[in-house]
Amino acid sequence: MSKKFDPRILLDVALFIGTSTSIYYILSYLIGNVGQQGPSASKTTQKKALESKRRLRLTNPDALSNLDEYESILLANVVSPDEIATGFSAVGGLDDIIEELREAVLYPLMEPEVFSAYSSLLSAPKGVLLYGPPGCGKTMLAKALAKESGANFLNIKMSAILDKWLGESNKLVAAIFSLAQKLEPCIVFIDEIDSFLRERASSDHEITAMLKAEFMTLWDGLTTGGRVMVLGATNRPNDIDKAILRRMPKKFAVPLPKTPERLKIFRLVLKDVSLEPSFDWDFLGDQSIGMSGSDINEVCRDAVMKAARETIRMNFKGGQRVADHKMRNLRTDDFFNATAAAPKLPFNIVPELD
Ligand SMILES: Nc1ncnc2c1ncn2[C@@H]1O[C@H](COP(=O)(O)OP(=O)(O)OP(=O)(O)O)[C@@H](O)[C@H]1O
Ligand SMILES: [Mg+2]
Repeated sequence: MSKKFDPRILLDVALFIGTSTSIYYILSYLIGNVGQQGPSASKTTQKKALESKRRLRLTNPDALSNLDEYESILLANVVSPDEIATGFSAVGGLDDIIEELREAVLYPLMEPEVFSAYSSLLSAPKGVLLYGPPGCGKTMLAKALAKESGANFLNIKMSAILDKWLGESNKLVAAIFSLAQKLEPCIVFIDEIDSFLRERASSDHEITAMLKAEFMTLWDGLTTGGRVMVLGATNRPNDIDKAILRRMPKKFAVPLPKTPERLKIFRLVLKDVSLEPSFDWDFLGDQSIGMSGSDINEVCRDAVMKAARETIRMNFKGGQRVADHKMRNLRTDDFFNATAAAPKLPFNIVPELD
């Protein structure tokens, strides 16, 4: 008697194979991740690090000879001075701050021997703080400082460091300082420094507290004769730990620009744009009360867009190019119309540092 083939057996076999394959892949994924105990870097980070390495090999080959794996990850955050597009000349309306930065930070960073020969008190400060409302040029100033001083710029995003595996964060914090020393002169720029180095509280996570302490110890231990500097920027100066503030003896307020400063920024931003002869700068000055440099940049972009749109409409009809008009000169009434509801209030006031 021939046995009948039972299709359920086939179904069971298929299910068995399917389940085993899924379990295999799930397990290997988990093992792969847990086994990855070394520094974890995304593909983009690795690519950026390689680019930095290639650049630095030309300018600073010795520094690259013995980098550990954590320093290599941080290489992705190094910007060399020749990659930075703009120096102090692109920063409008902060002349006093720029002058002081030159004398107290830039020159001692560029020529530490000269300054320490005068007096050991004159070496570049180990820490500088820029504080003020958003969009007023803190990051711009930091980059310009690196460009003008010829220093490497190590741009640290603390959130990325704190996100790492337990143990990796410590090694990355240590690598910040060791890499900076290898790349000296080097400016370690920590944007939103309050988010990491804020006032220590009993509610702090133990690991964050430990990292802060370690950061300060390494900072104190810098022994490069003033050629490595930590530059912090914040909108919330009063939230920063007092011990950290003490380590940044030079503090610069970068305030909202007043009318003459706003006009300087307008002129800088519009320097390559053709304007009508009757262009009314004072109107821009009056209308932009309470705006930051970044707001002014946006206002100018809107105005240029308005003129460009008109030209595009004249030149293209039904998807076809029908004329070849040049873009017209910018007029005063291109400004503030499109952005009638633009922020005119001092909406981003930052408290004075106590
Ligand atoms: N003083 C200025 N002169 C010329 N442009 C400026 C000035 N301030 C701001 N800008 C413009 O605004 C943009 C943003 O400025 P920046 O990133 O330096 O601000 P920030 O103070 O670092 O702000 P945040 O606190 O939000 O980080 C700049 O890229 C620049 O285009
Ligand atoms: Mg900034």
